[in-house]
Amino acid sequence: MMASFDLVAQALARYRNSSVDETVSPNDSMFDPGYKRVGISAMNAILLAWQSSDVDEITRVLDIPCGHGRVLRHLVKLFPEAMFDACDLDQDGIAFCAKTFGARPLLSREALTTMQFDTTYDLIWVGSLFTHVSRDIARAWLEHLAKFLSPKGVLVGTTHGRWSEHVYQHYPYISPEGWNTVMEGYRKSGYGYCDYQAKENHAYIEGTYGISMARPHVTIGDIEQIPDTRLLHYSERGWADHQDVFAIGKPALTESWPWWANPQ
Ligand SMILES: C[S@@+](CC[C@H](N)C(=O)[O-])C[C@H]1O[C@@H](n2cnc3c(N)ncnc32)[C@H](O)[C@@H]1O
Repeated sequence: MMASFDLVAQALARYRNSSVDETVSPNDSMFDPGYKRVGISAMNAILLAWQSSDVDEITRVLDIPCGHGRVLRHLVKLFPEAMFDACDLDQDGIAFCAKTFGARPLLSREALTTMQFDTTYDLIWVGSLFTHVSRDIARAWLEHLAKFLSPKGVLVGTTHGRWSEHVYQHYPYISPEGWNTVMEGYRKSGYGYCDYQAKENHAYIEGTYGISMARPHVTIGDIEQIPDTRLLHYSERGWADHQDVFAIGKPALTESWPWWANPQ
């Protein structure tokens, strides 16, 4: 069953009548001229994912990585009655999200699979995290986060898909040498990854943070291996006309019979 059309329509109407807090932290490394549109576009992607899911009321939301709330500021207006957890490795980012948007700050762990959440979520938004890790890490992190979905919860994640190869030509994500390594893996297996060079990023242990590229069929193949969930949605260029968007959710395929098999 898909989410109630009426609930989705009501949330959209409420969001459109709200005013989003436009306070930007001076420490927000994601700030650029497209900042606001990127946030709005995430609402579009999340509404599509919600509509493709089984969940009705969204009461608990996890934004990971929340950064300094580029997307969270919109989410709190889309779901004004929900509780929000804002999780990141960036302490300043989570503190800003707590102060400005009323979220509970959660300091993440570099090895995300060791991070335990004390609740489950109807919506987990993972904007631009898998875009920075190797395939093995992306698989493990996705599987881990999916464990914290509520019985009908939906997880919406993003990747650098086929379109990002073209975007790179105008907005390089990594050094030319790094990009060559990414593209080598991408052409060979459909998933490419390279660590940021030391000069580009100092904050992470080698092997855990860089740039990835993933073909849709590779992402979908990996999603098929995630237990207790099913694929709900995939959209190329679905976030900010840039990153691909996928949604997975519960219940899994085999967990419940369709309403037409049990009409009462
Ligand atoms: C490209 S930014 C995206 C931030 C935010 N989603 C946005 O759209 O503005 C990637 C973020 O991932 C965070 N990050 C990296 N590894 C992480 C981890 N293991 N757990 C949580 N956040 C992580 C970084 O601190 C950074 O804020």
